[in-house]
Amino acid sequence: PKIAVLLGGVSEEREVSLGSGKAAAAALAKAFEVDVFDVQSYSELPDGLNPETHVVFSTLHGSFGEDGQAQRLMDAAGVFYAGCDAESSSLTFDKVATKERMKEAGVPVTEEIVFSEGELPEVETVLASLGESVVIKPVAQGSSVGLMFAAGKEQIAAALRKCGVGRWLIEPKVEGTEVTVGILHGKALGVVEIRPKSGRFDYSSKYTKGLTEYIAPAEISKDLTERIRNLATIAFEACGCRDYARIDCMIDGAGNPYFLEINTLPGLKETSLLPMSAGLFGYDFDDLLQKLVEPAII
Ligand code: DAL
Ligand code: MG
Repeated sequence: PKIAVLLGGVSEEREVSLGSGKAAAAALAKAFEVDVFDVQSYSELPDGLNPETHVVFSTLHGSFGEDGQAQRLMDAAGVFYAGCDAESSSLTFDKVATKERMKEAGVPVTEEIVFSEGELPEVETVLASLGESVVIKPVAQGSSVGLMFAAGKEQIAAALRKCGVGRWLIEPKVEGTEVTVGILHGKALGVVEIRPKSGRFDYSSKYTKGLTEYIAPAEISKDLTERIRNLATIAFEACGCRDYARIDCMIDGAGNPYFLEINTLPGLKETSLLPMSAGLFGYDFDDLLQKLVEPAII
């Protein structure tokens, strides 16, 4: 088959997806015939995608591509694709539903308050149940779009006022070390440590060169490394994920890990986190891409 790389999309992560998709297509083109489709719609698969001749490798981050909608359309059209299926994509794109699933699976998560636009929680309630320093984020977004950090009454009140449409969650800010780990064919890869210079891994720290230092392997103990890899594998399985994903965690000052989220279509530039995590297991970028698409071809 030919590989159809889907990129772009219409979510707030379009630019990020263009970066991932172009890098992925270039790597896949070394081993396969590749057609690139720039997706411009929230409701349809691109014209020219042919279930008889194409196998899909999608890098559509964010809504439509990563929340199960595109996967549902591909299932209906009989198109084979690599990566998570519709159900696990839609579950993991909802951070609150995913944390519920983690609790059932015994994976540690932080406390939270969930609210919708127009039903803001009282600042006093936030302070009393989550503490002084919090993270506020959309329930269903990627790339840290909309992420806000706030400490103390005034900042929290101001951040709450900025929350727009949709559902939001507030969590205590875990002070410590942020790490991420890739999963390939269901098995955990290496643990990468993320050190944003500002102390806050938000959209600009993520996508502005030089604002974050990445340490691979993470400078944490062997035991903790194995614990993170183990938690990530449990999380992946508990959500019914398929093929690959990337799982983010925080480790507090006492060495306790907390699951943050699963990314079912993680960033895929050569410098992205999943490639870094795979690099620790000896896969270079081209190897990794071939491995990622493999399950859809066989
Ligand atoms: N949502 C971005 C692309 C990531 O998880 O890497
Ligand atoms: Mg994400």
